[in-house]
Amino acid sequence: MEIDLADLGFWRRPLKERYEAFARLRDLDLPVFFEEKRVPLLRSGGGFYALVRHADVVEAGRNARVFSSEPGVTSPEPPGWVKRVFGESMVNMDDPRHARLRRIVSRAFSPKMLSTLQGDINAACARIVDDAVAAGPGDFVAQIASRLPIHVICDMMGVPDEMRARVHEQVDVSTAYSGVRPSLPRSVGMAVQNTVALLALQRLVIKLGRDRARTPRGDLVSALVTANVDGERLTDRELGSFFTLLLVAGNETARNTMAHGLKLLTDNPGQRRLLTDDFDARIGGAIEEMVRHVSPIMQFRRTVTEDYDLRGLRLKAGDKVVLFYGSANRDDSVFPDADRFDITRDAKPHVGFGGPGPHFCLGANLARQEIRAMFRELLTRLPEIRSVGEPELLVSNFDNSVRRQAYTF
Ligand code: HEM
Repeated sequence: MEIDLADLGFWRRPLKERYEAFARLRDLDLPVFFEEKRVPLLRSGGGFYALVRHADVVEAGRNARVFSSEPGVTSPEPPGWVKRVFGESMVNMDDPRHARLRRIVSRAFSPKMLSTLQGDINAACARIVDDAVAAGPGDFVAQIASRLPIHVICDMMGVPDEMRARVHEQVDVSTAYSGVRPSLPRSVGMAVQNTVALLALQRLVIKLGRDRARTPRGDLVSALVTANVDGERLTDRELGSFFTLLLVAGNETARNTMAHGLKLLTDNPGQRRLLTDDFDARIGGAIEEMVRHVSPIMQFRRTVTEDYDLRGLRLKAGDKVVLFYGSANRDDSVFPDADRFDITRDAKPHVGFGGPGPHFCLGANLARQEIRAMFRELLTRLPEIRSVGEPELLVSNFDNSVRRQAYTF
């Protein structure tokens, strides 16, 4: 099989084939360069070096001064208008702008804030499983996995009940676009739909922010739009970008971990038995192993700011590199027999939540909390729950996204 990571057709291949291709790339002495095509209106051209080994991904993630997140982290690179429309998100910024935003929004993820969410997360899981029991076996993504993360984000942001159906609707539209489409007209159509949906979400939260700035209510949006002790607060545009970032970063990722996670537990009955025999002791390791094995976000890009020697590869300022988290997480030199799902292994060095650097996933602990609560509810109340058949995957070079997964209980 010829390997071309810049050819979007590669991402339509079955997961197993893609992992085999990455294993071959990891065996090569140096990272390979892939040329990207320019598509008018949708993306710039150029190309990137593929970082596929764990050590290389960690080195680039850690050294954010040389491996910059500006001007953007998605690949292929979207054109400039995308940024002008959406405003900038912290995930696309370097310090000090990134550090300032991260300082302000980190309050949403403090241990205190997260512990106040736990009761609500548990209650939401119970309600979702009640509904699933009433509905009977069907699609695990629609009935279970997709419902929790978005609910939690809306709760965190204090999105009022009457606005939530609209948020759901817009998120569904916006995530239907994966960046990989069969034809140009269809791509443009989906991109426009996606843009309109995301802008509607931003408007919604900006309106909420203005209300809260006038009458703070002690919720997170109130905290973000009123000044902290250092006099820092989010502007309208920053609040809008933060909300869409949360919905984009925190929704599909957690949902896909749960959907792939059920399949992994179904396909590995021994591992499932280990987990259910001592849920509290083993769920922490099981979640890390799910995130490692699944790699819900398969890649992020960086741009090199100065000439740099990476394991013998001479990078020049302006070169792009893509950090393939999914490949690093299958690197046998760090995770022996890496394709095996083993909840007892030390999966902690995985880069499923990003490498050890300033952009390490801000929502990692929240995601762990959600996944733990959902599997506790599912495995306790529906001990026979299992996936049926293969998942239907969304074609994407970015998310390891499950569109549908049949299940029964
Ligand atoms: C299993 C679930 C999740 C996975 C696998 C995941 C993965 C990631 C990854 C790989 C990054 C690094 C981006 C980079 O390298 O530049 C990231 C960043 C981020 N994640 Fe997550 N994420 C998950 C859940 C969440 C949740 C639940 C939230 C919030 C509700 C969230 C919010 C964020 C934010 C705000 C960033 C940007 C951090 C920054 O740029 O400083 N994530 N995530």
